[in-house]
Amino acid sequence: MSASKSIIPPSSTALERASDLLHNGELVAFPTETVYGLGADATHDKAVAKIFEAKGRPSFNPLIIHVPDMETAKQYVIFEERAEILGRVFWPGALTMVLPRRKDCPISKLASAGLETLAIRVPANPLARQLLQVCRLPLAAPSANPSGQISPTQASHVATGLGHRVSMILDGGTCTIGVESTVVGFDEENVVLLRSGGITKEQLEAHFPNVQEANEESEISSPGMLLSHYAPSCPVRLNATDKHENEAFLGFGREYDKISTINLSISGDLSEATANLFSAFHLLDEQGAKQIAVAPIPNIGLGVAINDRLKRAAAPRP
Ligand code: TXA
Ligand code: MG
Repeated sequence: MSASKSIIPPSSTALERASDLLHNGELVAFPTETVYGLGADATHDKAVAKIFEAKGRPSFNPLIIHVPDMETAKQYVIFEERAEILGRVFWPGALTMVLPRRKDCPISKLASAGLETLAIRVPANPLARQLLQVCRLPLAAPSANPSGQISPTQASHVATGLGHRVSMILDGGTCTIGVESTVVGFDEENVVLLRSGGITKEQLEAHFPNVQEANEESEISSPGMLLSHYAPSCPVRLNATDKHENEAFLGFGREYDKISTINLSISGDLSEATANLFSAFHLLDEQGAKQIAVAPIPNIGLGVAINDRLKRAAAPRP
């Protein structure tokens, strides 16, 4: 697609302008190391409401708040020892922690969908960090895509999905990780995995051996884990070992290279495949694929996050 006039390359002028827009309650899309975020001043109710409106997002689904460092996070949420440890190890980075809101927390209640908790993270992307430093606001930012559709890993994906809804898209190139952050919460005994993402369960378990996966019985849950999500326009067929007629084939590894329309990683590297996943979906969608078949992806490390997104992409649509 053609470059949108709202896609702005990074510069100090661009950051100042983005900051002004945010202070005026406008929406600014910005890159993070995971996916592009649709940012708004998290303390500004109307600005936060605009996020829900722009995405068509159900208001029961709370947003992640982005801050420049753990000290700032502590102004909004109450840290306990486990959170302190994970923050020190994984921030800045692709880990979101769900923690109790402080009594005096100025973040819009709408951002946390009325919950007593807040999801918070310190992003690592240099442009995201600069933006947070220049604007000095906590930024509520979900992935910058219409609700239910594929998350954006390039500025042009944001322009295609939400271009007319945002005041500015800061262009930081391609997101290095390519899937959303891992979301964790804490119950009395365990670190609870609410969404698999850029930080693997194995990485968390190096610090807390019993990371529990959230299920229906869990005390805490993530309201946003809708089954159909990350979905391209056409149907998706999983664990495919052959390519049917009229299908585009998303390969993984050398074995499927011959039949691949796009290969997520010829060498079978899971982090390369993660970084390529959403852009491959965007591209096949643009090419008008009738159905997308996806090769099996090993369910270890980052493969768990890939398979989670694939399962939702293939789920029956509402
Ligand atoms: O990588 C990411 O996390 C990206 C970038 C932009 O930072 N953001 C992102 O936001 O993926 P979003 O809104 O698409 O996903 C937020 C997830 C949802 O599943 C939501 O339900 C969950 O976090 N969440 C937010 N607040 C929560 C809370 N208080 N309790 C439980 N889950 C929460
Ligand atoms: Mg999202």
